[in-house]
Amino acid sequence: MKDNAVFESMERELNRQRQNIELIASENFVSEDILKATGSVLTNKYAEGYPAKRYYGGCQFVDEVETLAKDRLCTIFGAEHANVQPHSGAQANTAVYLALLNHGDKVLGMSLADGGHLTHGHPLNFSGINYEFHSYGVDKESEMIDYEEFKRKVFEIKPKLVVAGASAYSRTIDFEFMAQCCQEAGAIFMVDMAHIAGLVAAGLHPSPFPHADVVTTTTHKTLRGPRGGAIMCKEQYAKDIDRALFPGMQGGPLMHVIAGKAICFHEVMQDDYKEYAGQIIKNAKAMEESFIEEGFRLVAGGTDNHLLLVDVKASCGMTGKVAEKLLDEINITTNKNAIPFDTEKPFQASGIRVGTPAMTTKGFKEADFREVAKIITYCLKNADNQAVKEECIARVKVLVDKVTMYQNKTYIGD
Ligand SMILES: Cc1ncc(COP(=O)(O)O)c(C=O)c1O
Repeated sequence: MKDNAVFESMERELNRQRQNIELIASENFVSEDILKATGSVLTNKYAEGYPAKRYYGGCQFVDEVETLAKDRLCTIFGAEHANVQPHSGAQANTAVYLALLNHGDKVLGMSLADGGHLTHGHPLNFSGINYEFHSYGVDKESEMIDYEEFKRKVFEIKPKLVVAGASAYSRTIDFEFMAQCCQEAGAIFMVDMAHIAGLVAAGLHPSPFPHADVVTTTTHKTLRGPRGGAIMCKEQYAKDIDRALFPGMQGGPLMHVIAGKAICFHEVMQDDYKEYAGQIIKNAKAMEESFIEEGFRLVAGGTDNHLLLVDVKASCGMTGKVAEKLLDEINITTNKNAIPFDTEKPFQASGIRVGTPAMTTKGFKEADFREVAKIITYCLKNADNQAVKEECIARVKVLVDKVTMYQNKTYIGD
């Protein structure tokens, strides 16, 4: 008998994805081909090991898929070696630490409070529990990475590994400078480009290649692939990293997801992907202009990439938590986010993070994003006004009604 409870929830989630303006900076909408791959018979196959070196029979066809994914990823970024098996970005980072560090080794990563990720040393995360993490952050005035402080810490702390990359940082990251510091200090340099990988692929953010020793990413953010992770590295680290991931910390790879990754990489190699990535940035700039016009304060003064951090505390005297809820009520999805030097607790936060990748996939252009920013500011400035709320809901509906993606489809991509 069909499990109606789950299918009905999936139907409701599909409707939510159709009706809402999705501004979570780490989300996207995959193509129907990727939906098909991730819902395919490849989920049935066990393939522990790597292509041509498996612990199970019958792997000849999944070997083809994984080899395509690896080769395409190396081609896109000019990497020497790729591993496409990490189930997630967190797994990718953990595998790198397991491969390159010993328990208690010193690591330098971006402060979580300034935009870094949990896996870059949070005390409750595997990273912070097992290694001696130190952090660098942003300058108090500019709210951009303080490269002088970074350099000083690399030389003072002498970490074995340095991690660059962030989850909530709206400006360009100077990987070349950071790599140079690491080389001079004898540290291994790792870049977690999860958020900006798609912009790097399109040549719209300076690449961590060939500067970094190891680069990790997720595949589901700007890259617009299925939920998962990947690792790229210099050949000298390849064996250790592959071994750390399997058998070190994962069992069988998710071959249906790896098929989705291979398709994603194929899509990234097409010309229209470059156009898409360019539009992500143009749209973020359009939002930046509108927020500033409306008198809102943006962390670091604005954006160079796909996301903005809006200081809602300074702009309209409310926490990120309250702003997120108000926006949810008018069908705009964002997330509360700490801002640098935040005086609120992380669960309240002074900011919201908004990103353009998902709605750019749905076809939104600059004018649409200007309208989105205007709706957000109007809603937040008139928090207690029911008539304003209803007007905002109607304005959101006008925008989403123009979208055709996923309109005549079901949740299984058929
Ligand atoms: C910079 C960065 N690294 C790693 C991750 C973790 O990815 P996942 O959620 O797939 O484990 C994220 C997720 O948001 C991220 O922003």
